[in-house]
Amino acid sequence: MKGGVARRTTVLLTGVGLSLGIGISWARVSGDPGEPAGKGGKFSYVGATACKKCHLKEHKSWEKTKMAHAIETLKPGQAVEMKKKFKLDPEKDYTQDASCLACHTTGYGEEGGYAVPAAGDDKAAKKAEKLAGVGCESCHGPGSEYVKIFEDIQKTERKYKVEELYSAGLKKMDAGACTNCHNDKGPTFDPAKPFDFEKQKTQDAHEVQPLKQRE
Ligand code: HEC
Ligand code: HEC
Ligand code: HEC
Ligand code: HEC
Repeated sequence: MKGGVARRTTVLLTGVGLSLGIGISWARVSGDPGEPAGKGGKFSYVGATACKKCHLKEHKSWEKTKMAHAIETLKPGQAVEMKKKFKLDPEKDYTQDASCLACHTTGYGEEGGYAVPAAGDDKAAKKAEKLAGVGCESCHGPGSEYVKIFEDIQKTERKYKVEELYSAGLKKMDAGACTNCHNDKGPTFDPAKPFDFEKQKTQDAHEVQPLKQRE
């Protein structure tokens, strides 16, 4: 399976029901196979480059956001004032710190999501590079399956219902897509400036265009 870590677990398959289970090789090891669509779960991460060829404008404008480079912030000497203000150590390297990576990378701790590469493992390093920072899939959900549907939609120029994509891992865009990370668990969270989805969703993630093929 492209991009994902294909794994099969007997434990999980009993949960799915064996009749269904035989062909399933993408079940997330720690996930619940009955999880509602769009919560991650059984889909894996492919990285923002996989979206670029069809969403060039979104990709270009996303690349300019701080979110796209959120892993840089974890390096020593970066965002020094903010770190001082919130009692973080500006000289410390936080790029391997699980308690930071959860929100400063894409899909950390999930199937096919960001993982700290072992020294000398070039393949893992390449994968990590694709998923460093807050990528498309941090907000839109892991793309391994819905990208295949988009390829079909693109090729056939057919109309689609978005529900079709939701059941393949695309996340519904609501406040929860942001407050997964924009919450009081982040060390720089300022209770005086709570996250305002309606205000922040439109300009800040990337440039958006009208959808023509969606029903
Ligand atoms: C629960 C999610 C979450 C976790 C965990 C988290 N962050 Fe963040 N971080 C954010 C969000 C969201 C922002 C931007 C808005 C804000 O500050 O609330 C941010 C912003 C920052 C900033 C400010 C960047 C700037 O450009 O001003 C720094 C520095 C930072 N984080 C460091 C860390 C470090 C170091 C850790 C681990 C010890 C960490 N964060 C863990 C979500 C998180
Ligand atoms: C995977 C975690 C995560 C999710 C999901 C997330 N953010 Fe963020 N966001 C961050 C982090 C981390 C930062 C701080 C980036 C930095 O400076 O290092 C940030 C920063 C921002 C900023 C500051 C400016 C900038 O250029 O990036 C805005 C605005 C923002 N987020 C909006 C949103 C909106 C809107 C959503 C939902 C549609 C969202 N975020 C979803 C983690 C997340
Ligand atoms: C921080 C969260 C966040 C990130 C990261 C993000 N998006 Fe979005 N995306 C949104 C929001 C919010 C909308 C608007 C949804 C709405 O208004 O209903 C959106 C809408 C879209 C749309 C539909 C509108 C259009 O422009 O066609 C596409 C396609 C899209 N995003 C692709 C991407 C791609 C590709 C990336 C990565 C290069 C990406 N997104 C990264 C939050 C995000
Ligand atoms: C082969 C081309 C292709 C690829 C690759 C692709 N998309 Fe799309 N995507 C499309 C098409 C076509 C549409 C429908 C556009 C329209 O209706 O105008 C779309 C629509 C979307 C929408 C809007 C869904 C809705 O109806 O609300 C989002 C979000 C989105 N894509 C995100 C992504 C992300 C994230 C990736 C990478 C993980 C990605 N796409 C990869 C072709 C693609």
